[in-house]
Amino acid sequence: MSPSKGGAPLLKITGMIKEFPGLRALDDVSLDVHSGEIVAVVGHNGSGKSTLVKILAGVYTKDAGEVEFPASAPEEETELHIIHQDLGLAMQLNAIENLGIPKYKKFGESFAPFNTRHEREKALELIGRFGEVFPLNVPVGTLAPAQRSIIGIARALDGWKHPRNILILDEPTEALAANEVAVLFDAVKQLAAEGAGIIFISHRLDEVLELADRIVVLRDGKKVADADREHVDHERLVEFVTGVKTGEAETGRTDRTHGDVVLEIENLSGADVEDIDLTLRAGEVVGVAGVLGSGREALPALVFGSIDAHADKFLLNGKRYTKRNPRASIRRGMGFVPGDRGKFGSVRPMNARENVTLPELKSLTNAAGAVSVGRERQHVMGLVATYDVKPPRTEQTFSQFSGGNQQKIVFAKWLRNRPKVLLLEEPTQGVDIGAKQALYGAIDAAAEAGSGVIVCSSEAKELVRLCDRVLVLRNGRVAAELSGEDLTETRVVLEGYGLGSGADK
Ligand SMILES: Nc1ncnc2c1ncn2[C@@H]1O[C@H](COP(=O)(O)OP(=O)(O)OP(=O)(O)O)[C@@H](O)[C@H]1O
Ligand SMILES: [Mg+2]
Repeated sequence: MSPSKGGAPLLKITGMIKEFPGLRALDDVSLDVHSGEIVAVVGHNGSGKSTLVKILAGVYTKDAGEVEFPASAPEEETELHIIHQDLGLAMQLNAIENLGIPKYKKFGESFAPFNTRHEREKALELIGRFGEVFPLNVPVGTLAPAQRSIIGIARALDGWKHPRNILILDEPTEALAANEVAVLFDAVKQLAAEGAGIIFISHRLDEVLELADRIVVLRDGKKVADADREHVDHERLVEFVTGVKTGEAETGRTDRTHGDVVLEIENLSGADVEDIDLTLRAGEVVGVAGVLGSGREALPALVFGSIDAHADKFLLNGKRYTKRNPRASIRRGMGFVPGDRGKFGSVRPMNARENVTLPELKSLTNAAGAVSVGRERQHVMGLVATYDVKPPRTEQTFSQFSGGNQQKIVFAKWLRNRPKVLLLEEPTQGVDIGAKQALYGAIDAAAEAGSGVIVCSSEAKELVRLCDRVLVLRNGRVAAELSGEDLTETRVVLEGYGLGSGADK
């Protein structure tokens, strides 16, 4: 079926080494990718996956090793098309301009964005295949994370001169819901069938097992496995990634007793959301599901006050709260872990310690009002251990942590304040399976300690694991509310598509 797996590989990496101060991020990694082959690269947070991609992209220089394109010929040069973990979009430019960027041939050759009708139609076509079309003429920084993912994907799938190129996807599905993932996978399989070589990086092991022909596992910068798909099952893969022999120790949802109402909202409207009623009790975990554009992505920001919203009634801890904004929300006891951790969740040039303690420096100040760095560091060391942040260096700059470890730091920052209302958006985005369980445990513990928690997630399995109750949004409204025996993965997904009542078994 897949063309010419036998011949020279499209990409050949040999003995790759990359060192950062005090850390060997890649330690003698070799990897071949053939035409028609989908190779998954998996490994825990910080195992070196994105570093490998960045070296191929020329973002980092390698310390040793070879990168060759043995099948490349003058008339058919092997190109790399990459979807980076952080997408690499220009946030102030719009979708059309972002899609056009790779086509700017030379410096000086008209850098003016060309929003011609042709470009617009092309952009609509590229984006339209992933479902709902969103505004193309606004800065992409104002779009939802999932919409930005789609732009990044569309860009990498465009402009191929011939089919035998390498496509690299570094965690492309983290912000996507099941239907968008399915479209992406069809596109990827199609490209492979036409002769492309694919490198697919993901923590979603089910997706890896579904898509890959071959699976390569990195652990602490070393390649520890390179096996054909048929020789690997879920359990083996978990063992490979964690280095521990276990069945997946996934504990189910626990029955919780709920306390007083902490949040009572009537007719919340704003962004894509219309007339939503929401009640949340202390100790309760409420999930929000729905496909892209359903309003799921906007809800936490509307409640937090980072997007303008109208509500007929908004009571926080029984008190009316009208002029909502993030600062006032934090003061009144809300916490928000946004899906877009790079943009809203963190201050990239600061180190991990400063990021963690930012929301509540008061408790760490001394009598004179100065922040006690010693006390702060000690405190953060404890959190770094709890969340298994790697490397456990409180003084490392935030942007130098791997994607998943950045997420753990943002999480630690908001949970340490024991918020009365905790808003979580894609809480385990980019986090490996070990850390995922730790974050689930932390969310359970927050609820147990009395926080009311709202979790928005594109992953139905995650919502079923975490929540007492799930609201499924469709077209900005609550289409279904699921709890007890009705709260299953199938129901969450079907209700999202409007196939709920009667259609499910
Ligand atoms: N610019 C940098 N300076 C210092 N250390 C870095 C830098 N970039 C990455 N690292 C370190 O290199 C290691 C590998 O990081 P990398 O981003 O490749 O991990 P990853 O496998 O992609 O993880 P994740 O699944 O969390 O995205 C990490 O320990 C990370 O902290
Ligand atoms: Mg990464």
